[in-house]
Formats: sequence, C-alpha cells, structure tokens
Amino acid sequence: MNNKRITKQNAEIAGSADPHTQQATAPHLTRRTFLQGMVASAAALGAGWTSVSEAAKGGASGGSASIRNPLYIPPVAFASSYALQAAPATVDLGGGKFSSVLAYNGSFPGPTLRANNGDVASIAFSNGLTKETTVHWHGMIAPPNMDGHPRDVIAPGASFTYQYPIMQRACLNWYHPHPHMMTGEQVALGLAGAFIINDAEEAALGLPSGSYEIPLVIRDTTLDSKGNLTYTAKSSGFLGNIPLVNGTRDPRLDVDTELYRFRVLCGSNARVFKLALSNGAQFTVIGNDGGLLETAAVLGQIEFSSGERLDLLVDFRGLAVGTKVMLQDLNSGWNLLEFNVTQQVSATNAIPSGPLSTITKLADPVVTREFSFDGMSRINGKVYDINRIDFQVPFGQTERWRFKTGGNAPHPVHVHGASFQVQSRSGGRGVVYPWERSWKDTVLLLDGETVEVLIRFEGYRGLYVMHCHKLEHEDMGMMANFEVI
Ligand code: C2O
Ligand code: CU
Ligand code: CU
Repeated sequence: MNNKRITKQNAEIAGSADPHTQQATAPHLTRRTFLQGMVASAAALGAGWTSVSEAAKGGASGGSASIRNPLYIPPVAFASSYALQAAPATVDLGGGKFSSVLAYNGSFPGPTLRANNGDVASIAFSNGLTKETTVHWHGMIAPPNMDGHPRDVIAPGASFTYQYPIMQRACLNWYHPHPHMMTGEQVALGLAGAFIINDAEEAALGLPSGSYEIPLVIRDTTLDSKGNLTYTAKSSGFLGNIPLVNGTRDPRLDVDTELYRFRVLCGSNARVFKLALSNGAQFTVIGNDGGLLETAAVLGQIEFSSGERLDLLVDFRGLAVGTKVMLQDLNSGWNLLEFNVTQQVSATNAIPSGPLSTITKLADPVVTREFSFDGMSRINGKVYDINRIDFQVPFGQTERWRFKTGGNAPHPVHVHGASFQVQSRSGGRGVVYPWERSWKDTVLLLDGETVEVLIRFEGYRGLYVMHCHKLEHEDMGMMANFEVI
C-alpha cells in the first residue's frame, strides 16, 4: 500500500529565488519585508534534476488522464522520539515528474506523526532552510513556548527540540511552519504533515485501520516551467491551478471492497474545497478537527477550508471489481483522487452503530468578545504586531467569541491553545453544518457570515495567536496575539 517515492535531499541549497523573475500581484502590499518573504519559487532550490516542463500547462488537470499515479502515502513516525528536518528536496509528483519542494525529512507531505493520548511528543527539529521557520502543531494543545509562535523562530542551520505532553482526545492534527510573514510561502512550497493522536475511546470503536486508514492531504499548487512548485502571494489568497493529494498529481488509490477511513486535511493556502463522490455515494462523517463527533453524519457534499480536517468513512463494499469512483471538488470541478476497486475481499470493517463519543458541552459564557476580520490584513482594525498583546483571557473561563467580517472572505478562523464549539452561523450560509459539531479549531467564515463559538482555555497560560488561516491574510497581518492569564 505504501508507494515508496523517490526523494532526494539536495545537498546544496541554491538560495532563495530571484525576486525579479516574478511579480507580486498585490500592488498595495508595500511592506518591503513582506514582499521579500512572499515571492518565492522552489525552482532555485532544486539543482541537478531535469524536470518535466509539461507541468505548467496543466491548468485544471486532475482531469480525465487515462494513466493516473499511485497515491503517495507518507511514512509513519512516532512522535515520542523523532528527528525532523525542514529542507529543500526533490520529489516525484507522480509518473516521474520530479519537482523541487521544501519538505520535512524529504517527504512531501511530511511524515505522518502518531502518538497516543498521554504520550510525550519529543521532536528534535533542525532548520535546513535558508530562512527562519518554526513548527506549529495545529490543533495540538501545546505549551506556548512549544507552539511554534512566530516569536520563537529557529534560524537557518539551528535546531530546537519541541517537547510536550499529549493531553487531548483522538484526532487528526497537523504540523506546518509559522514564521512571521513567511507561513504562506513555506507551506505552499511543501512544508506540512499530518499528526494523528489515538486514544482508548476511539480504539473501542474498531474503526478501519492499517491499510484501510489513509491520510489525505488535499491542496492546490502551481508549477513553474520546470515543474517545480512555485508560489506568488496574492492578497486575495493563493489559488493554484493543479490539485495535489498527498503531493501526487492525478492520483489513484487501488481499494478493496471494504469500508475505508480517510483522515482528510485541507492543506491549501486559501482554496476552499467541496468534496463529493462521483457515484453519488455519501460520506459518513465521524470526526473533524477536534476528533470524533457525537454521532456520525451521512452527507453527499462537504465543504472545508484551509486548516480544517475531516474523518470520513467511505464504503466500497458491494462495488464490483473494476469500478472507479472519483473524489471530486465541486467548487473547482476538479477530479481529486480516483478510487479504483481492484480486489474483492470479505469485508470485516463496519460503520459504528450508535454514538461515537460523548461531548461535554461548553455553556454559560461569562464574556463575549467580538472579532471582525477586516479587509485582508486586520482583525478589529489592527494589523498584527508581533510585540503587541491584543487581549488577555482568564484561564479556565468559558467565553463566547463572535467572528464576523465585512468582506474579502473566505476567512478560515483559527485559534491556538484551545478547541472551541461552534454555536451558530448567521448570514451567508446561515447554518452550522454536521461536520462543524463537536470540537473545532478552525471555522470557515464566508462573506456576510457571523459565527459564534464557545471556547475555554484549560491547557496552559501564556502567549498564543488567533488568525485567518488563509495564509496570505495571516502573513499580511490578519492575526492577533493573546495571552491566557
Ligand atoms: Cu495551522 Cu496558526 O496555524
Ligand atoms: Cu494552529
Ligand atoms: Cu482571511
């Protein structure tokens, strides 16, 4: 099942791209440091490989290519003791189309980390990039000094060990860079990986596992004329023209006539996907950012945005060998991933009947805070200042946070340091969707929408950020520092 992909750590780092070869497309972005950080190409990083130039003309590929590439499955690593390096690498996007990327341990996406609730994560990180970076553990309740805050950057060539106890329910989290004004670039060029937490409650459900549990990191990208990942920031959000699932172009997954569990991460910088299956079959949604839902929801279409996660059961039982089912994005019309039923088995996996989990509902907020996501770079009228603390939140206090916007959405709103429970959405789509129940750490705000959540910080005191997870908005300053006191 694991398709071993050829990767090659480049011994030499060619330095950052020539900023003159590309144009920033946002004329009002005048802050020079940001501009320097935001225009980049992986091209300059990859020496020595002749790449396929067909790539750039791909347009809305993922189309009906007759030969599809085996889906890459990143290697699994245990977070309790692991060495992780961010560095340029050359990877095969499928079919021998080599591409220069930035990668964790040469894998694009990065290795899938795993830990059990109660473990201690210990990740010895080294920065093999030419720029500062941090590693943020999105969804993890990590102490402030381990959270990858933009203040805690790791210099090129330097190392830092991230160490923290895992004290939260089973879920799919992920890790990615979080340096000030450079997150969009580093993520777009390839730095992101899944981090799965398991616990006893989840294990008791007997969900599909092993080769029947597959992480899917869905994103878009743009390739330069040499087929290397490239990035040009746009203040409205980076939109690539090629879909990638687990870093694979036009991917295919050969499946058995079984029930599968897909751990799905929206790893785009800005693109919102609306997932559906081409045969009209429905997804059984069992979880999201914060882990298992209380009860499963059966849905034909699911919309999710940068940073959000889905835990989906997809049923291939009863399909004839030879059947092909496409995972599609209805927003772009892209074919994301072909499931190819290749093997008849007598199925042993089953959709859990009855409740999945018990969720203790937050209630009785003592304060309401309002956050207006203004323009493309402000929260409550302010551009992020790394040295300013925008508000303080008492430890253990239940609060209502109201997110609203005057426009320029989508704004996927993300909070560090705690999960929240979505209470309501008014305006716009006007509903809380089944996949937004239970615990979340990222919630999608479209134009005209106001979303209310309840939140309580009971992990650690100290400094965290909240921000728009459209990474270009985050980089431009749609982010706030807050302190749990
Ligand atoms: Cu996934 Cu603060 O980010
Ligand atoms: Cu986060
Ligand atoms: Cu935004």
